[in-house]
Amino acid sequence: MGTVEEVRVSGQLSRAKLSKLIGVKTNRLLSATIIPMTIISNCTASVIKDAALALKEGHLVAFPTETVYGLGADATNAKAVARIYEVKGRPTDHPLIVHISSLELLDKWAREIPEYAIKLARAFWPGPMTLVLNKTDLAQDFITGNQDTVAIRVPSHVVSNKLIKEFENLGGFGVAAPSANRFGRVSPTNADAVSQEMVKFLSPDDLIIDGGNCSVGIESTIINCTQDLPAILRPGAITPNLINDLLETNIGIHNADNKLSQIRTSGMLSTHYAPKAKVILSSEPEEGDGYIALLEHLTPPGVIRLASPRNEIEFAQVLYNSLRLADEKNLSKVFVNSPLGDGIATAIRDRLTKASTN
Ligand code: TXA
Ligand code: MG
Repeated sequence: MGTVEEVRVSGQLSRAKLSKLIGVKTNRLLSATIIPMTIISNCTASVIKDAALALKEGHLVAFPTETVYGLGADATNAKAVARIYEVKGRPTDHPLIVHISSLELLDKWAREIPEYAIKLARAFWPGPMTLVLNKTDLAQDFITGNQDTVAIRVPSHVVSNKLIKEFENLGGFGVAAPSANRFGRVSPTNADAVSQEMVKFLSPDDLIIDGGNCSVGIESTIINCTQDLPAILRPGAITPNLINDLLETNIGIHNADNKLSQIRTSGMLSTHYAPKAKVILSSEPEEGDGYIALLEHLTPPGVIRLASPRNEIEFAQVLYNSLRLADEKNLSKVFVNSPLGDGIATAIRDRLTKASTN
């Protein structure tokens, strides 16, 4: 997880704006960087303040969360949110998650909040969990994709948390943020991945905040909290076991009764999270193919090993970047030996199944 001291900011910034943002002479910094548009900053409190201001002015800010990087906009600003859809190339009926700084602000966005949702929030926020709830009028159609529900998350990453707080201090109510990738592609887990994929679609006043690698590595668990029992719409680091232990329930994943799950969670489209390389989950890789597997699995001769995580947690952390690496190396096929188990491995298998469907 990134610390405030490690933050970097990149974007197509004017020198004057850069100097203002980082409080140091721009020329020196520009000459010290390898990629001209990526600026490294030590001075972070002011960087985050300026990023919050950029959000308030209607610009986009890509920022780190503990799950994946998000592409943020003021969740009450129709024009700014429209730009998220444009930049991502995402259909407008796919709703966005609103990020807030704490549970105390939940009832601005959601109403009829069931007791179990409060319990979940108290246990797992700030953290990698999104709750879908009945919306208030603050959540407009451009956020909800014309539904009566809104998805809310309190992220735990120090940079996202601070950014959202600063934004709220400026009078903002929440930051809408999908993963900062083009629609249907692999979510970014570091700022370079955001930059490589998105910079050509961003404007000079938009920003990318670099807070290092994401500690979880796959998107939040999404839980529908509009029915008598919670239902997991998208698996993640908050697993059914954690939820069932807390609530003394016995829920699984993709509850069949859940009408929302059929249409609205884009991660539930059959193809998603996909690199250009073909992802193959069964059979063995051959010479020239990419391979992602736990460390205990040997690499067959001539196969290009892309990652060797030691356990399911590391697997989630490195998965998306390894799939990106396959594309960087122009591999046509990448074989993945998915981890077993019912922890975050369930979410890994879910994403890989979708990545492999094309
Ligand atoms: O970890 C995450 O959740 C990341 C970080 C940036 O917070 N965000 C993320 O956003 O993954 P996105 O837009 O890539 O995925 C959010 C999913 C989409 O599949 C969307 O359809 C679903 O949440 N969603 C949003 N609002 C919803 C709602 N009201 N009902 C059901 N699903 C909803
Ligand atoms: Mg996404």
